[in-house]
Amino acid sequence: EQINKGKYEHYMQKEIHEQPASLTTTMRGRLIRGGSCKAKTVLLGGLKDHLKTIRRSRRIVFIGCGTSYNAALAARPILEELSGIPVTMEIASDLLDRQGPIYREDTAVFVSQSGETADTLQALEYALENGALCVGITNTVGSIIARNTHCGVHINAGCEIGVASTKAYTSQIVVMAMVALAIGGDTMSNQARREAIIDGLFDLPNKVREVLKLDEEMKDLAKQLIAEQSLLVFGRGYNYATALEGALKVKEVALMHSEGILAGEMKHGPLALVDENLPIVVIANRDACFSKQQSVIQQLRARKGRLIVMCSKGDADSVCPSGSCRVIEVPQVEDCLQPVVNIVPLQLLAYHLTVLRGFNVDQPRNLAKSVTTQ
Ligand code: AGP
Repeated sequence: EQINKGKYEHYMQKEIHEQPASLTTTMRGRLIRGGSCKAKTVLLGGLKDHLKTIRRSRRIVFIGCGTSYNAALAARPILEELSGIPVTMEIASDLLDRQGPIYREDTAVFVSQSGETADTLQALEYALENGALCVGITNTVGSIIARNTHCGVHINAGCEIGVASTKAYTSQIVVMAMVALAIGGDTMSNQARREAIIDGLFDLPNKVREVLKLDEEMKDLAKQLIAEQSLLVFGRGYNYATALEGALKVKEVALMHSEGILAGEMKHGPLALVDENLPIVVIANRDACFSKQQSVIQQLRARKGRLIVMCSKGDADSVCPSGSCRVIEVPQVEDCLQPVVNIVPLQLLAYHLTVLRGFNVDQPRNLAKSVTTQ
């Protein structure tokens, strides 16, 4: 693998733009769309001997930090839907602080780009002591987390250099969608849904290629936001994770305060922040949450909120009838894969904001690529 910036100025920029290729590599050899009599299916070699045990788990616990935690959060709904097993979320340090309960009947899934993050690693030791089946999802073959878990899946996104994780995030979501398909298994009742997801996965690199064309538009938006103090990102459902991850990118590289907010919580506090100055990104795709997000947009507009709405292509007029907000139109994909498409414009926005504000893109102050101390 070539580790240089190629035609790009920064690793983060390169890694954002190589996502169609990294996603393809992540899926290579793992998705089967056979001939006439062969069903569409998923093959994950590192998991196959443990699928029965996982299916018998009392619950699945996702454990990670930062972007890896956000990727797991994005995958949680599809795993719950396809497996029928309760899925809970743990930030590694918080699990350790609380010494939260982990049982022998649990499957604990450790998500980490580096496979070396100290908090995640210590949480792995804790889960092993408590007898859980431990699954590793990492981007680094031979990393401690990959070695010390019972089984797992490599992300195969390729080496990531920029401290801000971008291509590993989208590949992690894709891996966990495939894990959900593998655990869910083939049943008559979920066949159409499974096939739609598998078709969606095959087409995902093309959709990401399409959304990358928003690069100039995101640069223009960054110019408008360059002097802001703060940016809020509202999401829900599959895209609550997108809100958290978009805000994390903006704060860690552009050094601008940014907060991802669960839109369902808007009336329970965040609404007090809304005025005509504070920029707010609202994610409103055509999914089960669409009408609720339309209502959130109406309420924000009624308070003169300065809105930037991310919506599915062709929906600009329905999310923003009088043209009173800025719109980012993205390709619509299967709901559980939408976070992969939606994060790309926010990665581009964070990248351009950073360059325009004159900060170090690949080595943000105070941060390290891999946090190996607690
Ligand atoms: C990502 O942009 C961050 N730099 C950070 O949150 C990172 O995701 C976190 O430290 C976890 O790292 P890992 O995936 O290597 O475990």
